[in-house]
Amino acid sequence: MNPNNKNIKLLEISPKPYETAALLPLFDAVRSEGQQHAAADWAAHMTPVVTQNSLIGHLLSAQHNGNLLSPALYPLLAEIEKHTLRWLCRSFSFPMGHFTSGSTAGTLEALWQARESHPHRAPIVYASQAAHYSIAKACRILGLSFQTIAADADDRLCPDALQRACAGQAPLAIVATVGTTACGAIDPIADCVRIAQQYNSWLHLDAAWGGALALVPKQRHWLTGMADADSLCFDPHKTLGQPKPSSLLCYRQAIDLTIDDGINYLDPPPATQFLGSHGAEYCLSLWSYVMLTGTTAIAEAIQNRLDQAAQFAAGLTPVANWINHSPTGIACFALADSAPDLTRCIEQGVFSRVIVNETPVYRAVFADSSTQADALLASLIESL
Ligand SMILES: Cc1ncc(COP(=O)(O)O)c(C=O)c1O
Repeated sequence: MNPNNKNIKLLEISPKPYETAALLPLFDAVRSEGQQHAAADWAAHMTPVVTQNSLIGHLLSAQHNGNLLSPALYPLLAEIEKHTLRWLCRSFSFPMGHFTSGSTAGTLEALWQARESHPHRAPIVYASQAAHYSIAKACRILGLSFQTIAADADDRLCPDALQRACAGQAPLAIVATVGTTACGAIDPIADCVRIAQQYNSWLHLDAAWGGALALVPKQRHWLTGMADADSLCFDPHKTLGQPKPSSLLCYRQAIDLTIDDGINYLDPPPATQFLGSHGAEYCLSLWSYVMLTGTTAIAEAIQNRLDQAAQFAAGLTPVANWINHSPTGIACFALADSAPDLTRCIEQGVFSRVIVNETPVYRAVFADSSTQADALLASLIESL
């Protein structure tokens, strides 16, 4: 927490308005709370600073406030949304997709579509024990049963365990993670594709965190096989410096489940998406970022984060007794039992604590270009 914010108190909501000047200290405190993500030694979570080049789109979106449930009324916004989606879906080798509020919503919708497309399949979903809790949540909402599959020491789903589970009971869907929340590990996508095809199961890729690799030509090989998945979700609000909400859900096949249950005020009736009213907030910030930055500089920014993560992991060698460095820009580590604990670093957002293979470890997340290996190592050494 910014020490200057410690004494800040909210003002009561009252029948009379406050002068703007009376609220300025609060506005400033809110701003500075968000600014902590810009520190070179902030690596606690997947919370990048919003890029300058997104801000113009963000402002425009607030001023536009249209609703793309009536796209004919907003032809320019509808065209910009299509244009941005075309680029993004193509980057993931998917033919179509739409924006959502986050990967929680994306996975929920993908599993809903899987259930609708295969009404006679056993309502079971498999994902690794390291998968994000949003998968279990989606299953619970949809009345599907969720079963975890063992992960290896690097947090990656074990294909043999998946194969055995499928042989016992063919699932409705398999979810493979491209960048686990704890370690940033990438499940073996090609094996998951093969097994999903063998059992005619829907394959969803949760690329919420690791999907950014698809935008860097020399890193795309990590996602080999994605072109054979049925759906994929990816969060620009985690790795592309986008204001929330910014998330993508791609599909391999057109989903034709138009809801026309007496909706008489929208023409044509809305497609079956989880989203209700939505407009510029999902696409304009991302569009302005891409247009003002260019895809080469976007790829360079992602690669810089990955390089900082690699440098940090290399610098851990003299002090850590266990290190896990993933290709997606997360490094986890453990210290000797005799080392002091890093509670102060955790409280300041330098690192976070996660459980990997039932063992608590520290985690550094390289979500923002301001996060620097040297600054994190200096904070760590200072705490030992
Ligand atoms: C791997 C993974 N999947 C899904 C999610 C959920 O994303 P959201 O919070 O955008 O709904 C997260 C969030 O951290 C995640 O790490």
